[in-house]
Amino acid sequence: MSAYADGTRAVHAGLPAPEPGQPFLPGPVFAAPYHLDPETGPGPNGYGRTDNPTRRALEGAIGELEGGAARVFASGQAAITALLLSTLHSGDTVVLPADGYYTVRAFAEGTLRDLGVTSIAMPTAGPYPSFDGVRLVLLESPANPGLDVCDIRALSAAAHTAGAIVACDNTTATPLGQRPLELGADLVVASGTKALTGHSDVLLGYVATNDDDLLATLTRWRNQTGGIPGAFDSWLAHRSIGTLDLRLARQTANASAVAGLLLSRSDVTGVRWPGLPGDPSYAIASAQMRRIPGVVSFDLGSAERVARFLTASELVFAATSFGGLHTTADRRAQWGDDTAPGFIRFSCGIEDTADLLADVTAALDAA
Ligand SMILES: Cc1ncc(COP(=O)(O)O)c(C=O)c1O
Repeated sequence: MSAYADGTRAVHAGLPAPEPGQPFLPGPVFAAPYHLDPETGPGPNGYGRTDNPTRRALEGAIGELEGGAARVFASGQAAITALLLSTLHSGDTVVLPADGYYTVRAFAEGTLRDLGVTSIAMPTAGPYPSFDGVRLVLLESPANPGLDVCDIRALSAAAHTAGAIVACDNTTATPLGQRPLELGADLVVASGTKALTGHSDVLLGYVATNDDDLLATLTRWRNQTGGIPGAFDSWLAHRSIGTLDLRLARQTANASAVAGLLLSRSDVTGVRWPGLPGDPSYAIASAQMRRIPGVVSFDLGSAERVARFLTASELVFAATSFGGLHTTADRRAQWGDDTAPGFIRFSCGIEDTADLLADVTAALDAA
């Protein structure tokens, strides 16, 4: 499938070979134990924590798109903490994005610190610390919610020279937007809750890698700790990936239009979208990303104005996620992000562009 373009790859990712009388995507297999062969014991499916065909099919799809072998987890946080806890040991140092998903930093400053792991915060836009003595460098590009972008290839090379391994959080970009493994990262980690599945109805996470030892470590970790997604969520996620290319295309078109609208308004400041030629992320994003995601950020000046904007809008839902079918906006300071009170992460959905622009214009006028 790797020779095909994105839409074709997304539709066919992880599907079994056609078989007369069988569905394109087999339905979810609900099983805790499976029948065992009384004589030979465990086959491919023995017990649901370690084996499930629906989950394996989803892993096949994500692995095809990322260009590695994937292991899925019950949420993005389950995937990220599996990565951190299975690769880091007492005395190790990890470099984390200073401006990335805040729960990862909180985990590092609590659980990891208590386990004797030192964390160094690195701004995604730089300056970067020395990687000497570092075990793991975790990148997040574009970083959420500020949308800074880092040079994954250059940072991976620098980390490898220092003897560190590199993981990249690909949540915002999705594997159709960016392929960190091809850019030199050892691992991709992501929340599949966002644009990858995109319907705001599933929590999912995954790690992908081409390193057999890391894959074995992560698989063992997941088998022993048990943070798996269920069969129905795995199936929903796989079904949703089929439309990833179409959803991203509309989200990107909407983000481009919304960013342009916001830039034209004197009552909006700090507009960020890596696809804007004047954006600080533009040069690296254009060079390393295959498409720019539908997330825009900006500042409305105060929490009160954000509330008036969201109340006035008919199409923009107040919600703390992104990448979904529906346009959503989140005032990040309410969750503890180090952002201004009026800072909004705005995730463009797949509504018609003209409707979205008209609604945002009317809501800004009313606010
Ligand atoms: C960049 C990033 N990574 C990881 C996560 C965690 O994912 P989940 O909410 O699926 O646990 C999030 C959630 O917002 C995120 O934005």
